[in-house]
Amino acid sequence: MKRIAVLTSGGDAPGMNAAIRAVTRVAIYHGLDVVGIRRGYEGLLDGDAIPLTQSSVGGIIHHGGTILRTARSERFKRSEGVTEGLARLKGMDVDALIVIGGEGSFRGAWELEKRGLPTVGVPGTIDNDCAGTDETIGYDTAVNTALEAVKKLRDTASSHDRLFIIEVMGRNSGFIALQVALAGGAECALLPEVPFDVEKVCQKLNYAKKRGKTHSLIIVAEGVMSAQELAGKILDTGGYESRITVLGHIQRGGSPTAFDAVLGSRLGAHAVEALLEGKSGVMAGVTCGQVTTCPLPETWENKKRPDLSLLELLNALSI
Ligand code: F6P
Repeated sequence: MKRIAVLTSGGDAPGMNAAIRAVTRVAIYHGLDVVGIRRGYEGLLDGDAIPLTQSSVGGIIHHGGTILRTARSERFKRSEGVTEGLARLKGMDVDALIVIGGEGSFRGAWELEKRGLPTVGVPGTIDNDCAGTDETIGYDTAVNTALEAVKKLRDTASSHDRLFIIEVMGRNSGFIALQVALAGGAECALLPEVPFDVEKVCQKLNYAKKRGKTHSLIIVAEGVMSAQELAGKILDTGGYESRITVLGHIQRGGSPTAFDAVLGSRLGAHAVEALLEGKSGVMAGVTCGQVTTCPLPETWENKKRPDLSLLELLNALSI
């Protein structure tokens, strides 16, 4: 192996730049050349690539987004797209590829691996919905960003005796919603993984009002329904006037937390080490504090679910 490529794909996540930096510097340390593919698989199909050097990845560890930019590629989902991508990589004399992204990106990586190109994944998504790692790069930052907003909303909710319904990201997963609800002292967290009962939500609001609570907060993952739709279903708020807030893409931006900068660095480095040890078709992850690898298909086949005991804890703490 002489030359490797790295790309970021899917939604950007804070800490991706730390991972790009680690891939580049550890690979160069081991005598490899590094090529950065821009705009994910879309850029690969267009041959949009740049050489990466120790200095070109300098000063990026604390930057949000991804210096390689990213995309969701429809073209690469087709078999001809994968064939074209493979040809592009061969044309650049690339011997192996590191893909930083989430489940959809790893499915693409697996197609390249099956066609003979050694490929390793690095989990980068704010959703934390990849099996094979306790946390994904960007999740911790997104939770902290959302939490800052929730704390501000709580101030205004308390001042006005209001209920705030706050919609957070998570199309298919409730990790962000649950963590933010617990850390933000919310009354309820609604997750795509758990069916919810609107009556129970109303009861909780009534109880909170009777106890004299000056505010109530509901955190809803976008995958359950929109905050607007939920507001239309909560017909009895216990007397609280309600407002909705959609946090949206603000959760994806910003400088990574220390946790994500370290996680990105560790997993980027571990992906290169895995390739050097002859491993491929795997994702680098962290389990119980230790760097690990697991087969790429397991990252989407073994559905990772939030710890539901935390939902029980939220219910106990918010009565
Ligand atoms: O996968 C990360 C994520 O932020 C999801 O939580 C969200 O549903 C989706 O990306 C939004 O995607 P887009 O930026 O394409 O609108």
